[in-house]
Amino acid sequence: MLIPSTLASARHYITSHLKQVDPAHDPVVVMDATIGNGHDTLFLAEIVHPQGKVYGFDIQPEAISTTTKRLEQANLLDVVELHLLGHERFDEVIPADLCGKLEAVMFNLGYLPHGNPSIITRPDTTITALDKLSEWLAPGGVITLALYTGHPGGQEEADAVVKWASSLPAKSFQVMWQQILNRHHAPSLVVVEKR
Ligand SMILES: C[S@@+](CC[C@H](N)C(=O)[O-])C[C@H]1O[C@@H](n2cnc3c(N)ncnc32)[C@H](O)[C@@H]1O
Repeated sequence: MLIPSTLASARHYITSHLKQVDPAHDPVVVMDATIGNGHDTLFLAEIVHPQGKVYGFDIQPEAISTTTKRLEQANLLDVVELHLLGHERFDEVIPADLCGKLEAVMFNLGYLPHGNPSIITRPDTTITALDKLSEWLAPGGVITLALYTGHPGGQEEADAVVKWASSLPAKSFQVMWQQILNRHHAPSLVVVEKR
């Protein structure tokens, strides 16, 4: 297929940006805002190791334990710091001197696959995190958000994210929204790039 999946697109934008960053200049710092089963955390750790760092956040203990095992198996746990904490509170644990230095942030919204479908990301906490991240992002840094609308509350959250992203000043940010048009409730992708 020529048209990539939402996840493949998100990874493409993250990889393309991180390839341009010089790790010799500063260790590359990135964030997985929704750890879940840890697939994106592992993807980020593989890119930024050995010098860089991935900060990961989730509110479910099983996300932390599954992801810890996944990273251990890949021998990459030392470049990752996992927090059982809402992403809206990331600034309580990421050192303040990294403000303006986050090179990439991934959000995969919704609920944990094979987990409790009533534990979902929510518009208020997602937007709180995004407001802060727009400051914490490095110049040239990228935020990807995979949006899902098939579960209760998903459409409201997707609408809130698209509204937030659309209101960012064009002078400072470039924003894209990528959507499959002919599949009901297909996930879509918002990409925010800081100029
Ligand atoms: C769609 S899953 C993420 C999938 C994950 N990226 C993966 O690779 O498996 C969404 C995750 O967001 C988590 N979550 C919900 N609210 C959150 C919050 N405020 N901060 C951080 N994570 C949150 C859920 O517990 C769930 O694990």
